[in-house]
Amino acid sequence: MDPNRDNSIIRFTTFWWGLGAFFIFAVLLAVIALFNRTKPETLEDAVAKARYETKAKIEVAQAASLKKEAVTAAIPTVATKLASSKPTAVEKPEQVIPGSPTAEKIAAAPPVNTAAIDAAPAEASPIDPAVMAIGKVQFMVCAACHGQNGEGGLIAPPLAGSNWVDGPVSNLIRIQLRGLQGPITVSGKEYNFAAGMTQMAYQTDEQIAGVLTYVRNSFGNKASAVTPAQVAALRSEVGKPPLTVQDLTQP
Ligand code: HEC
Repeated sequence: MDPNRDNSIIRFTTFWWGLGAFFIFAVLLAVIALFNRTKPETLEDAVAKARYETKAKIEVAQAASLKKEAVTAAIPTVATKLASSKPTAVEKPEQVIPGSPTAEKIAAAPPVNTAAIDAAPAEASPIDPAVMAIGKVQFMVCAACHGQNGEGGLIAPPLAGSNWVDGPVSNLIRIQLRGLQGPITVSGKEYNFAAGMTQMAYQTDEQIAGVLTYVRNSFGNKASAVTPAQVAALRSEVGKPPLTVQDLTQP
């Protein structure tokens, strides 16, 4: 071997050059690792991120409208109120057992004071078109039995020209709240329908006032408007058995 190419000095430098090369390589790897530090993102990560962002937004919005402390403070009050409240008993006529205390209580209840409700209004106020509009919508149900123009038919007497319709307001309200059964004479003609009329107490005060104002001022009828307050004053009638003509104030 050529002694110039193999001597201890050359070996020594080669050793250090080799070591240096390894060192440079390591530094390069470290630099690459440094600049690629962000973790690769999976689909799940992406979805979770969106979820956390939404949650944070909701929490901010909730905190702005209702403080967490306020909710926590209200819980004991609401809980005691709920625990002490009882559902209101609904006494539907068909649920009342004849001879039961409830039936006796209903029978013993003083008759409602209809005189105040039936007192003629001090001055005839014009009929509100908005009230008539509410009534027209409600009347679609009545029309099924009483006819499109209140002309009556095989299952219900006429409302057009009926002496009951332009008669005392309390009759009309109570018929809505309790229903009506048995023979009835409408404008001199006697009717006796097997089924009678069911109560329609599910309607709001405004709806009953509207439909009654509507029938009192349609099909040639002309009478004062019925107010929601008049209906509200008779709400205690709900739950009592259906009316018969004897229960009504004669028109
Ligand atoms: C399921 C059919 C039916 C429906 C729906 C109905 N009625 Fe009647 N209505 C009758 C019957 C039947 C009578 C007669 C009751 C009787 O037998 O004594 C009557 C009687 C009346 C009377 C008294 C008698 C008269 O002709 O003037 C009025 C007022 C009245 N209804 C208004 C209404 C109004 C307002 C509505 C709608 C909100 C309505 N009814 C919906 C069947 C119905």
